[in-house]
Amino acid sequence: MKLIRVKDYDDMSRKVANIISAQVILKPNSVLGLATGTTPIGAYKQLIDWYHKGDVDFAEVSTYNLDEYRGLTGDDPQSYRYFMNTQFFDHIDIDKANTHVPDGSNPDIEEACSSYDKMVKDAGYVDLQLLGIGRNGHIGFNEPADAFSKGTQCVDLTESTIEANSRLFDDPKDVPRQAYTMGVQTIMNARMIVVAATGEDKAQAVHDMVFGAVTPQCPASILQLHTNCVVVADDAALSLCPEQ
Ligand code: F6R
Repeated sequence: MKLIRVKDYDDMSRKVANIISAQVILKPNSVLGLATGTTPIGAYKQLIDWYHKGDVDFAEVSTYNLDEYRGLTGDDPQSYRYFMNTQFFDHIDIDKANTHVPDGSNPDIEEACSSYDKMVKDAGYVDLQLLGIGRNGHIGFNEPADAFSKGTQCVDLTESTIEANSRLFDDPKDVPRQAYTMGVQTIMNARMIVVAATGEDKAQAVHDMVFGAVTPQCPASILQLHTNCVVVADDAALSLCPEQ
């Protein structure tokens, strides 16, 4: 794992955008694995800015998002599809037909998961996977568990994740209790992984991801076994880590 220490959120956003931008410039038809949440918003903004300046374009790029709430349709403002459209895809030249998010509106768990796995596999897996990290070490919605997950699965969200996500909902009762998420094995199939983290509330998770035992109790810890994984984290998120 390579650690890149940054000053703050803006610094992290620019560095992450730089890495994604380099990937797309070097391979215009890149397959990107994307994340939602608060962490990547600044990087998406930066990429939109560079797109408008003519520095990078996404015409040939295809994307696979990590996760989606089960039970929400893509036009629901709380859905991750809606988030991706409004925060990123609507502002660049990507062909929306080439952007993929698990289908939260599909009630058939088996079908929703296997069809997403097939799409990612048929795309040849992901060139660059962008990840945030949960306070409990989750990646995607792969929560602490007794075993690492493999393909796309339907998960019950933990109370800590529901609570963390409730800030984005008008009424905490509206936070969905289940989600479809890409599995850990699929994430590990990405040829490069970039984990972004800022803030003190991520410090324990970042420490355990980088320096802890590799255990499904901290799903992100498996990234220690990836041969091309970069962590871009600010001083606050690295505050429990030994100085490098
Ligand atoms: C989002 C995702 C989650 C988030 C994580 C951190 O698609 O898969 O694992 O990356 O919960 O969320 P933020 O960035 O809001 O702190």
